[in-house]
Parts: sequence; structure tokens; C-alpha cells
Amino acid sequence: MDWESSLIKNLQWSADIINISGKQKVAAQIAEKVTDGDTLGIGSGSTVYLALIAIAERIKTEKLNVKGIPTSIEISMFCAKLGIPLTTLFENKPDWLFDGADEVDTNKSLIKGRGGAAFKEKLLISSCPKNYIIVDESKLVTRLGTNFPIPIEVFPQALLYVEQQLKKLGANSIVVRPAKGKDGPIISENDNLILDCRFDEVGSSLEKDIKAITGVIESGLFIGYPLEILVAGNN
Ligand code: 5RP
Repeated sequence: MDWESSLIKNLQWSADIINISGKQKVAAQIAEKVTDGDTLGIGSGSTVYLALIAIAERIKTEKLNVKGIPTSIEISMFCAKLGIPLTTLFENKPDWLFDGADEVDTNKSLIKGRGGAAFKEKLLISSCPKNYIIVDESKLVTRLGTNFPIPIEVFPQALLYVEQQLKKLGANSIVVRPAKGKDGPIISENDNLILDCRFDEVGSSLEKDIKAITGVIESGLFIGYPLEILVAGNN
């Protein structure tokens, strides 16, 4: 089995994925939006992977000149494997972006960052005039924080101070995200810690209030960004 088929098979088996066919349709819609000369912001998540496979196919068959700006090393490696040329925010401005999300509320506010890349994801979404967020129905919530905590990337030496300040903002649970398969905390691509936080209430100023704490690099809370939400249906 080739590795793209193997990836799709693994996605099908993942407990997270409730509707692979719906995701493939949305991935195809994203790939259709690509035009020659585009610089794409590339987020993360299962539908992003599917969209990249479809985009790589178009690049190959239509000989499109397309570049991507990735939000993580993992996505960079996947693009390299697919032959999608990459660039950086130093050299290019993204024309549009596609990304996943962990929760989306009725105001199109998001929680992101389950993969630990919220800082780069927010940097790219902020730099982009047009952002497509791809989710399945399981991500739609009436209240942010229903299923996922808010990830907050923190400069390690600031941990105790930041924890103290987050409690003042109404954090009722703060967990330093553990490393996978070994002792100790996970270290982000920017050499920081990630705190997974739950709040009594997620108000409209919470994103700014969290960001104002010295030592916070960024949070996975996205309130008031220009986003178009694409929902993958059940068929
Ligand atoms: C990672 C994210 C992802 O976009 C999010 O986890 C979506 O993943 P999936 O579509 O596989 O559920 O915010 O930082």
C-alpha cells in the first residue's frame, strides 16, 4: 500500500475521525480553490492532510506554481514528502490559509492548539486576508471550552507567575501538558511549555487578557478573526 493510502486508512481508524468521506469532500473543495501563483498558509489537522494530498496532485498534473507556509515541522515534512514547495513569512505573504480547529462556536470563535502549534497558527491566521477553517460536526459547540481546554504557550521560567495570573482570570484547571511516552513536560517547537487551561467563563476579552500576561507567548483562543468555517458533513 502506498503511503498516502496508508495515511488515509490510519485516519479512518482514528477515534477522532467521525466522517472521513465528509472530510475528503471538504479537502477536495480546498484543493479546488488553489490557483497558479498562490502562497498558501498551511495549518494542521486531519482534513489539512487530506487537502494537501489533493493539492499536491493538482500541482503535479497542472504544473501549478504554488508555495506553502507551514505551521509546524510535522506539516513541513508532510509537504516535503508530497513535493509541495515551501517558503517562509520572511519571504512571502500568504494569499489564503486552511487549518483545522478543536472547537468552533456560533460566533466563529475557536479553540486550537491540540497539536501544540497554536503560536504559529495564530501568526499565520493573523497574516492572512482569507482563512478557511475545516472541521467536522463534532467540533461545533455553543460554548468554547465544552470539550477542549485552551492551550497556552508559556516561556518556561515564567510558569509559576503565569499560573498565578491565569487563576486571577478565572482558570479553574491548569495542566502542564506532559510529553508523549516519557517523563516531563512537552516542549513546543519554540522551546516553551504548553498549559492546557479551563476557565469558569470564556468571555470576549479573555484572549487579550491572557496575551497581556508577561511570559505568555500565545494562546489557542481565537476570538474575532476573519474566518470562513467549512463543516465536513456525515456523507
Ligand atoms: C492543532 C489544531 C488542529 O487544527 C486541530 O487539532 C484539528 O485536528 P483534526 O482536524 O484532526 O481534528 O488546532 O494545533
